[in-house]
Amino acid sequence: MLNEHLIKPGGPIQVFNTGDARALPVIDRAEGIYMWDTNGKKYFDGSSGPVTTNLGHANEQVLTAMLNQAKKVCYASVAVFENSPNQRLAEKLVSLSGTGFDQAFIVSGGSEATESAIKLARQYAIAKGEYNRTKVLGRNPSYHGSTLGAFVVSGDPVAESMFGPMAKVMPKVPTPFSYRVPDNHDVNSYARECAGRLEQVILEEGADNVLAFILETVGGLSSGGLVAPDHYYETVREICTRYGVLLIYDDVMAGAGRTGKFLSAEHWPNARPDLVTLAKGVAAGYTPIGVVMAPNEIVGTVVDSGGFQHGHTYAANPLSCAVGEAVVSELIENDLMNNATEMGEYLEARLKELADASQIIGDIRGKGLLLAAELVANKETKEMLPIKCRGVYRLVEIGIENGLLLYTRKTSDGAFGEWVMITPALTINRSEVDELIDLLRITFLQFEKELQFQKYI
Ligand SMILES: Cc1ncc(COP(=O)(O)O)c(C=O)c1O
Repeated sequence: MLNEHLIKPGGPIQVFNTGDARALPVIDRAEGIYMWDTNGKKYFDGSSGPVTTNLGHANEQVLTAMLNQAKKVCYASVAVFENSPNQRLAEKLVSLSGTGFDQAFIVSGGSEATESAIKLARQYAIAKGEYNRTKVLGRNPSYHGSTLGAFVVSGDPVAESMFGPMAKVMPKVPTPFSYRVPDNHDVNSYARECAGRLEQVILEEGADNVLAFILETVGGLSSGGLVAPDHYYETVREICTRYGVLLIYDDVMAGAGRTGKFLSAEHWPNARPDLVTLAKGVAAGYTPIGVVMAPNEIVGTVVDSGGFQHGHTYAANPLSCAVGEAVVSELIENDLMNNATEMGEYLEARLKELADASQIIGDIRGKGLLLAAELVANKETKEMLPIKCRGVYRLVEIGIENGLLLYTRKTSDGAFGEWVMITPALTINRSEVDELIDLLRITFLQFEKELQFQKYI
């Protein structure tokens, strides 16, 4: 029976998705940093969708590569054929990832990359005779994907109350937040405490039982562009090495140049991980791609022990790989990683001006073009906005009214604070940053006035 809430004036909507499909505009076309709906309304994409369309839309080189490959062969199973686009994409990814990453395993998205990294780690442990290593520690909060395997290593107490009883939720350590730290701490001491908790949990679980620790180096939506002090990453690396625990960096959002480096790990050369996952920016929204970057030592050991027992139908399909290869080439040829650094600094400075003038922007944080703004009711006390005013969700609605697209979701229903991602395409130039700031100013002011009128602030 058709669900009544999916019927809108024009007739029933026969799709279901995360939200209420009736509330959404219908996309018509997109070019560069702009998108147009079927009513002709123009939007500035201030977040690159869910931090994905890093090259902007309708990139000619990518479209040409897509068409050329489609004419040759779209699909050939990796169980039957190796394909050149897969090899060329892997070669590019390896050359950009630096020491320690010799091989790329291509899948279709971030969640699949998380699953693949965990399974690769597990098979590596088995191949070495470390059969007890099964626990993958994560942080609270964190996000590594929607599938059940990715969910168990993600930290979200609300999601846990729903899906936890169906799965084996893995142990968590606290995420080293910088804006809201416990009363007896400053940013540095709290980061030390959080790293110390990692060692404590490894010992509690039994060091020989712990397989890996996974974290977002620069926080995605789960912690809103969070960057820990440098010593945090170094201590985490030391602890993992000490106990034979593999360190996995989830670069699904922060990788592929978004923070100004191809891998965010490059910001912490003394804290290189053992495995890295990538997705979003590698194909920049032109096709679904996820990646696990791994060293020869891990892949070789697993292959010698009988092969990697894991696969997906669309893994490394020629069409997606050709598109990914074209996206990565565009990233390099147009010097977009340096642009992310330069425009990221400019955007961050302008956002901080906006925050100074605003009553409700409590914090601006991030790296490169992975930035976020945290909302508060009171900047002195950091008190949060009352739930009734819907905070970031209302802000995003006002943005849409003003032709500005922003990306948000309250991690754990806002238990850790609430923020919007400000993550435009890496192609952004100075005048587009200024335009984005103007749209943000109008949007934040409108929300602020609404909150004042309703006496929420
Ligand atoms: C840090 C991080 N890891 C993993 C994922 C999951 O990626 P996907 O949605 O492609 O499965 C996401 C998605 O937003 C993410 O931000």
